[in-house]
Amino acid sequence: MSKILDGKIVSAAIKDAVSKEVETLKNNGIGVGLAVILVGDNPASKIYVANKKKACEAVGIKSFQYLLDESTTQDELIELIHSLNSKKDVNGILCQLPLPHHIDEQAVIAAISPDKDVDAFNNLNVGKILIGNYDFLPCTPAGIIEILDYYGIEIEGKNCVVIGRSNIVGKPMAVLLMHRNGTVTICHSKTRNLADVTKNADILVSAVGKAGFLTEDMVKEGAVVIDVGMNREGGKLCGDVCFDEVSKIAGYITPVPGGVGPMTISMLLKNTLTAAKRQNGR
Ligand code: GUN
Repeated sequence: MSKILDGKIVSAAIKDAVSKEVETLKNNGIGVGLAVILVGDNPASKIYVANKKKACEAVGIKSFQYLLDESTTQDELIELIHSLNSKKDVNGILCQLPLPHHIDEQAVIAAISPDKDVDAFNNLNVGKILIGNYDFLPCTPAGIIEILDYYGIEIEGKNCVVIGRSNIVGKPMAVLLMHRNGTVTICHSKTRNLADVTKNADILVSAVGKAGFLTEDMVKEGAVVIDVGMNREGGKLCGDVCFDEVSKIAGYITPVPGGVGPMTISMLLKNTLTAAKRQNGR
């Protein structure tokens, strides 16, 4: 039976540290604020945005929410972002993805000032991450590294397999594992003989978005299995991994819920704090 990697514990430790630093800044007359923009009414996005607001408030970060109508134009959205770029009490800006189809996501991400880009999705920040000289790390991959560190799981020299090549998770995850001297393979929908590759993984990250995708026969005995899936089946949240069968053979496994999910939010808070400190010369 595998050991559970509990994201709630790791996340609580990070939130606690952020909360203390936010308090110290406040005592020095510096507030910390995050603006979150949601366009439209995607039900999952609405839940994520509400959770972000709650998490901000719990650590003393001021949350500014912009819940915009589905019909908002790209120009209107970019205009809002430009106004937030110049607001002193807004240290971080996050525009919840996905955006409605009539809006070009890359144009919107590019409009966010790199100093306030707490998702680390902006071209400049992506480039800085690639060369290993960054200010912010993308929240989900950075949260996964935090979990591995917390549980003392060594990355150096390990065979790391990432399933999924998205800009938000798969690609930056591969880069962060490389920075830690992991030997990294990225798999995707066109990968041939996927199970042959995943069977070789010491650390296996699944970011596919399909419930029941990762089965026991795809996992090496003793592997570390990280489930990034956030799938809803009949209103129930579940990951990509068939937990019951894979947890019998994996060495470590993240549950869904309670694994990677809580880490994404705590890393967002950490990035917002970093942004506030940098903007105030700290
Ligand atoms: N949608 C799903 N995950 C994320 C995230 O980490 N940031 C943003 N902005 N949108 C998302």
